[in-house]
Amino acid sequence: MWILGCGYIGQRLARHYLAAGETLTALTRTPSSRQALSAAGIPALARDLATEPLKDLAWAGESLFHLAPPPPEGNQDALTRHLVAAFRDTGHPRRLVYMSTTGVYGDCGGDWVDESRPPAPVAPRALRRLDAEEVLRAWSQESGAELVILRVAGIYGPGRLPLERIRQGLPLAREEDSPWSNRIHADDLVAACVAAMDLGTPGAVYNACDGYPTTMTDYFLRVADAAGLPRPALLPLNEAAGKLSPGMMSYLAESRRLSNRRLLEELGLRLRYPNLAAGLPSCFPIAPDSGDP
Ligand SMILES: NC(=O)c1ccc[n+]([C@@H]2O[C@H](COP(=O)([O-])OP(=O)(O)OC[C@H]3O[C@@H](n4cnc5c(N)ncnc54)[C@H](OP(=O)(O)O)[C@@H]3O)[C@@H](O)[C@H]2O)c1
Repeated sequence: MWILGCGYIGQRLARHYLAAGETLTALTRTPSSRQALSAAGIPALARDLATEPLKDLAWAGESLFHLAPPPPEGNQDALTRHLVAAFRDTGHPRRLVYMSTTGVYGDCGGDWVDESRPPAPVAPRALRRLDAEEVLRAWSQESGAELVILRVAGIYGPGRLPLERIRQGLPLAREEDSPWSNRIHADDLVAACVAAMDLGTPGAVYNACDGYPTTMTDYFLRVADAAGLPRPALLPLNEAAGKLSPGMMSYLAESRRLSNRRLLEELGLRLRYPNLAAGLPSCFPIAPDSGDP
């Protein structure tokens, strides 16, 4: 088994498989990340998947998770194109699970969205994701290798919360101006990855989200409350705009509510954290004086 792009989610996935006795190789870009993986007991190598030769990598016939994000520029995913070209030299993996994003749907005006909705990406990062999906789909059809795509919502979990932004006191759009947004807890995403590898229908796409959308503002306020931090100020969107990063503004321009019915029904996944109220407490260590057993 291979895990390409073995960062926050990949490490959790690797620990799951190593605990189950699986043999795996994790791949990351930088030597420092490779060293951190090795120190954590995860067999790893460092290679830039977008630019370096990959001919020596022995993933032919194996199960492979592709979790590496596209490079930050352009409308195409040069990394996935380079990877697919390499498969022709190395031999093809048996099955590839690709971690895409729900950004490929673009702005849906707050509609409920399932996997039958045609992608309509607008932001360049979402165009690159759709490019990756299309390149992988063409490769799968040509090679006969199995492809399963997860379209993943905002990931949260221990060590993966917007605490720094909240500490900086940056304002938020007021609730009535805030778009619908969607999330998944890291532990549930790892379970979704495993289910996609074991049970996913070849060629299928699955939304990976908790199915309990809330506004972006609600998310930040819940995180602030759970962390015991002051709540950010809420402003009308036109006033908040000048104080928000272009990245945050592009997220605020898209609103959708994602269905996870296919994930739950076809892959039989039972979410451990079906909403933020269930998931956020797991992101914080229990305070010594909390009285909890
Ligand atoms: N954050 C979210 O809310 C969210 C939502 C939906 C989907 N996703 C996507 O889900 C995937 C997994 O997320 P994550 O949080 O686990 O990501 P992450 O912690 O940022 O890890 C990304 C991993 O990819 C590696 N990588 C990046 N560029 C590479 C390259 N050119 N060649 C080889 N490896 C490369 C990184 O290596 P180095 O550490 O050495 O750079 C790192 O190991 C990512 O594609 C992410 O974009 C994220």
